Amino acid sequence: MKKIYSVLILLILLGGFWGAGWVKKQLTPEEENPAVPVNKLEKTQSDSINMTSNPKIIPVLVNKQHKLPENYAPADLVEPSIEFIFQEKSEKRKMRSEAAAAIEQLFAGASEDGVKLLGVSAYRSHATQEALFQSYVKKDGYETAQTYSALPGTSEHETGLAIDVTGGDGKCAAADCFAGSTEANWLENHAADYGFIIRYPKGKEEITGYQYEPWHLRYVGKKAAADIAGQGITLEEYDNSVPVNTK
Ligand code: DAL
Ligand code: ZN
Repeated sequence: MKKIYSVLILLILLGGFWGAGWVKKQLTPEEENPAVPVNKLEKTQSDSINMTSNPKIIPVLVNKQHKLPENYAPADLVEPSIEFIFQEKSEKRKMRSEAAAAIEQLFAGASEDGVKLLGVSAYRSHATQEALFQSYVKKDGYETAQTYSALPGTSEHETGLAIDVTGGDGKCAAADCFAGSTEANWLENHAADYGFIIRYPKGKEEITGYQYEPWHLRYVGKKAAADIAGQGITLEEYDNSVPVNTK
């Protein structure tokens, strides 16, 4: 009988410690990084965010403070004739027609210089961006996910004017090890000749709101690309926009 009382007291004490948080509760991945409900995502971004007035213009600014209109989907998506790291049919192959023609020329120009490039991910629908962002929130938490992935409605991939690329061996696809590679250096020097900019440059994180992404190319047209690359500025600065806070 005495033994039963001792066990009971022990259990009560343990329960107390657990409840008080002195014994660490084992959290499931879902509990550690709960998915953010869609309406919360919309609300989070609604404060001080502007709606992009004309999402169809080629140098359109889309970022944490300039959101695409609800249900926006580009009307002229086509598949550029370039190789991707995957074989299957996918919306990820698509770009707006002008950008698609330009990326074909960029890949051909790189190839002439002995540099092999592969597409990783181009167009993403709003629904795809939402699923992707949520998967990163689950993996890394909301705050960290925001430093490298765009909230749905604010991703350039939804405009059909952006594409992530990598080297011919497919390694370092959308990964930090792409930085400093032959292919990344070639893009740094030549992307603007084809109307593309490295959209999230190193050292401009406070302005773009994103970490350095040497693989993310954004088509803005040759004139804008030459101005942006020539002055070493971002699309935000080119657009005379206010800096984007990362928080
Ligand atoms: N990785 C960029 C910021 C995007 O998700 O559009
Ligand atoms: Zn990208």
